[in-house]
Amino acid sequence: MGHPQALQIAIDGPAGAGKSTVARKLADHLGYLYIDTGAMYRASTWLALKNDIALTDGDAIAALASNSNIQLKPADESSDGKIRVFVDGQEITHEIRTQRMSELTAGIAALGKVRVVLVEKQRELAREGFCVIDGRDIGTVVMPDAGLKVFLTASPEERARRRQKELAAQGETPDFEALLKAINERDYLDCNRAVSPLMRAVDAVELITDNMTIDDVVLELERLAKEAFQPSPEPVNPRAQEREATSYQEMPSAQEAST
Ligand code: CDP
Repeated sequence: MGHPQALQIAIDGPAGAGKSTVARKLADHLGYLYIDTGAMYRASTWLALKNDIALTDGDAIAALASNSNIQLKPADESSDGKIRVFVDGQEITHEIRTQRMSELTAGIAALGKVRVVLVEKQRELAREGFCVIDGRDIGTVVMPDAGLKVFLTASPEERARRRQKELAAQGETPDFEALLKAINERDYLDCNRAVSPLMRAVDAVELITDNMTIDDVVLELERLAKEAFQPSPEPVNPRAQEREATSYQEMPSAQEAST
């Protein structure tokens, strides 16, 4: 393993733990790029459906994903707080967020060849610099050297309640028990697939969010980020300590880093 990448924050966790909402807000607060890897798996499912490819055909879906331009753009008022997703210029932001797409995507994400292609795209985006990146395998596979790794979770019941609210806001009216069942099924698929199953990296901080609001979680993540990116308490060069004591106030911002 190389040196920890101080300015990369990896957030993993099961379906409905609130990762994408808090990751996006955290990235906004810090001025970092937000990379929603789940959206890339969803976009690959969309590509397979659009091209009438069997959802088990890993080779064909991987080739399609590899040859397509999957773009993530910042959320705006048209996208209900979700990042906007485009494939070869066509916007698919809303289509990929339905309950059906969630269920199909858990299957696509189990295909090793698709993962290889998407992981490479994710690393390419992350190379641009400061980022918050969320998914299932970020701390374990995609960016094992991230400077801060968080495993965000909540009980299945809490996650089903959150998903119900979210879908209701999109005009869907799913039954709670059906959602709970779907959450448990997705957990099972995500945790038991052969390639890159969902698991907590040994050095990830676990945050159980059952009794926390979104803002509570974002605050806690900001605190963790500050803590993780503090300069070493015992610098080798004592004069460096003086410099740090005067210059270190807050998390470095993306702008500061580029200057
Ligand atoms: O928002 P939600 O947690 O429901 O799902 P998502 O993050 O959009 O991810 C959709 C699906 O993609 C998940 O059920 C996973 O099966 C898969 N996924 C993955 O395998 N690896 C990732 N890094 C991100 C998502």
